[in-house]
Amino acid sequence: METLCWINHRVVPADQAAIPVMDHGLLYGDGIFEGLRFYHGRVFKLEQHLRRLERSARAIALQLPYPLDEIASILNQVVTQYPAPSGYLRLVVTRGAGNLGINPRHCRQPSLFVIAGSLQVVSAAARGGIDLHLASTRRVPAECLDPRVKSLNYLNNILARIEAHQVGADEAVMLNTRGFVTEGTVDNIFIVDGGVLATPPLSAGILDGITRGCILEIAARAGIACVERALTAYDLLNADECFLSGTGAELIAVQSIDRQPLRDPERPLFHRIERLFQAHIEECCAGLVC
Ligand SMILES: Cc1ncc(COP(=O)(O)O)c(C=O)c1O
Repeated sequence: METLCWINHRVVPADQAAIPVMDHGLLYGDGIFEGLRFYHGRVFKLEQHLRRLERSARAIALQLPYPLDEIASILNQVVTQYPAPSGYLRLVVTRGAGNLGINPRHCRQPSLFVIAGSLQVVSAAARGGIDLHLASTRRVPAECLDPRVKSLNYLNNILARIEAHQVGADEAVMLNTRGFVTEGTVDNIFIVDGGVLATPPLSAGILDGITRGCILEIAARAGIACVERALTAYDLLNADECFLSGTGAELIAVQSIDRQPLRDPERPLFHRIERLFQAHIEECCAGLVC
């Protein structure tokens, strides 16, 4: 499937889209982004993504180049022009072109572009369950750069992912500097312990994942016991089930953590939540009320 890009008010094939080399998004990772999915030609959780974009922008004193309703129109325009009814959108806002120094005041005009394509975070084979690695790379603490900012700098996460690949695992989970579980490199984490779903709180220093929020709501509506609580490696290694959530990832079951298989290979709660999540996507994007 062709990858498209909205840039400078036009939709072009992504390989024809370019940004200036002096853009501080490229030179310093100075910018923010959102990853969104669309199904049946409709963007899933559009409002939540726009709200998070706006909050990330405020947190780094970045003026969005268009109001949120215009950004929504741009996203919808790209979805309309995309040749398939479902896909992945990457909305990026950079500080814009400046000079070689770090000073953001020299960047006069932030730049915004949207890429539409397909994204599979794990291979079809790994969809049956991935191997997770407890990385020694710690998640950057909120005191340094709040992980709620969806910034263009993912080196912290990339270092953890490299570690995972070095030991033959598919994905890494990072602890914070106090030793509590935070999140995966591009996803939030849930465990099931004695029939109760648990996920780290935002105060652990994680992205406020939109899929995570959606799973918490779905579970509450379905009467599934669910808590946000501090988790340690002990909790992960003793969990019955474990899965990851994210817009790109959707829901991914974990089969082992540091080579130790999860206790319940049948994953009854994961399968139930996955069915509820799929039904929710249909409700939201196939025309019914969300
Ligand atoms: C570090 C990190 N955590 C969690 C997530 C999941 O967030 P969401 O469900 O909003 O896509 C992402 C998604 O990109 C991420 O990069």
